[in-house]
Amino acid sequence: MLGVLVSGRGSNLQALIDAGLPVSAVASNRADAYALMRARAAGVPTATFSLDCHADREERDLVMATWLEEHGVELVVLAGYMHLLTKPFLDRFPERIVNVHPSLLPEFPGLNAIQAALEANVETTGVTVHLVDEGLVTGAVLRQGELPLEPRETPEERIHAVEHRLLPTVVREMMASCAR
Ligand code: GRF
Repeated sequence: MLGVLVSGRGSNLQALIDAGLPVSAVASNRADAYALMRARAAGVPTATFSLDCHADREERDLVMATWLEEHGVELVVLAGYMHLLTKPFLDRFPERIVNVHPSLLPEFPGLNAIQAALEANVETTGVTVHLVDEGLVTGAVLRQGELPLEPRETPEERIHAVEHRLLPTVVREMMASCAR
């Protein structure tokens, strides 16, 4: 079973659901994340784990990990989740947390990766699906998808289209290897 962590609009969550992957729980740090509405519309249990309600990030992450495990989660996908995860969470799902990032890592690791690629005037950009560790997009790369940055008017749409293909593909493969 898959657990998905979200903070925003949730188009990657939607891609996982639409691909028929077994999403059993969706958690967020923000109660107002639109992604939570998508999960509820698909009948997937949701919960919000706000930092304001916990003593510190470690405690919040432990409670969130327990909730995911209670929903049978074996693999965690960060789909636009905007907080770094702490060691107590990472230790509960070793090598079983993946993230999708809108650049060809290690290029443009920051928050506004698409804008940074445009400003750097590179010809090619892309998407990276990688394992998650304690750093900001520093875990092992699992798969990358490239695309030309031309035409420069619509990079977001085209990058998200690559994400919506690549992420479900990698997750499906990882789930198959979990089952062995
Ligand atoms: C995606 O571009 C993803 O690469 C990045 O955050 C964005 C999330 O978009 N980590 P969405 O919430 O899935 O629509």
